[in-house]
Amino acid sequence: MKKKVLVTGGTGFIGSHTVVELLQNGFETIIIDDLRNSQVEVLDRIQKITGIRPSFENFDLCDLPKLQDCCHRYPDIQAVVHFAALKAVGESVEKPLEYYGNNLISMINLLQVMREFKIPNLVFSSSCTVYGQPDLLPVTEHSPVKPANSPYGNTKQISEEIMRDTIAAVEGIKAISLRYFNPIGAHESALIGELPLGTPLNLVPYITQTAIGIREELRVFGNDYDTPDGTGIRDYIDVVDLARAHVKAIERLLNNKTKKNFEVFNLGTGKGLSVLDVVKTFEKATGQKVNYKIYPRRPGDISSVYADTTLANQELGWKADTPLEKTLLSAWNWEKNIRKKQNQ
Ligand code: UD1
Repeated sequence: MKKKVLVTGGTGFIGSHTVVELLQNGFETIIIDDLRNSQVEVLDRIQKITGIRPSFENFDLCDLPKLQDCCHRYPDIQAVVHFAALKAVGESVEKPLEYYGNNLISMINLLQVMREFKIPNLVFSSSCTVYGQPDLLPVTEHSPVKPANSPYGNTKQISEEIMRDTIAAVEGIKAISLRYFNPIGAHESALIGELPLGTPLNLVPYITQTAIGIREELRVFGNDYDTPDGTGIRDYIDVVDLARAHVKAIERLLNNKTKKNFEVFNLGTGKGLSVLDVVKTFEKATGQKVNYKIYPRRPGDISSVYADTTLANQELGWKADTPLEKTLLSAWNWEKNIRKKQNQ
């Protein structure tokens, strides 16, 4: 019998890629998503890639009775992967109550049904934002968690604390928190990818939209950081590599490969690249020119962050190995595909 995995936010960017990997690795998936930041067509696309249509439930995780009803209808769920959350840093500063309310209540509700329905395993979508600007690079899992500089970041920290405390008190629940660095790219089929609403906030969607002509120029936020070319350094990880790490995490929990009830892993490539490195690699990989101009620093941005991935490499048996050129080409193919569909 296939093992059932509940995927919250499964029609979103990282969620949809993870559902594909789970299905291709023999799991059954049930997606919960209220589609506030994704499209129902993603289900057709997942089916096109995998030949399997995931079960789908359209509701808000803050609605506990609906979540309980869902767990009644799908007995024997073995694991939950929890992606569903609000994630825009700037918006979280303007709407803290919405962010705390949504991201924390959904986490609490999930843990509550895990206890009630005896669902034993949880994988959580966390972020390297919990480290702030680290004093030492690369960042290991032992690097200190710094006070969050946005309500969004704080919801990731508090969610990890809620998980840790609950797991310590409730027998039969184990969890892994995955701290992502900067996820980019798209599935190589170009059928699923990132769909930013309105003007993109993240670097790669802004690059692809500039290359295709929707944006006039990429604004490079700051070239006076203490980095070789002055622009900010990040650890850009391919979304499919990232999705595969979730399968490894689930298998680790299901197969009892760990005695620990709560673990944290950094998910990145281990390599820091500057904004201009990414722009140049994109141009080389796609043959497209990217207009860009240097602007002042973006408030709240840090200079550099990249991961030490030793723990994930050793314990999960996982490594991000997609070359950046291939990842950026997949982002470009996805961008072209979205525009083609819009023009049809
Ligand atoms: C941001 C969030 C982070 C979140 C992540 C999710 C902030 C401060 N951090 O990470 O908490 O987990 O998204 O994906 O918002 N850049 C430009 N021009 C652009 C866009 C970005 O120069 O138009 C630069 C940024 O200054 C930064 C790098 O590109 O140096 C990456 O930026 P971005 O993709 O927004 O990710 P983060 O800010 O690292």
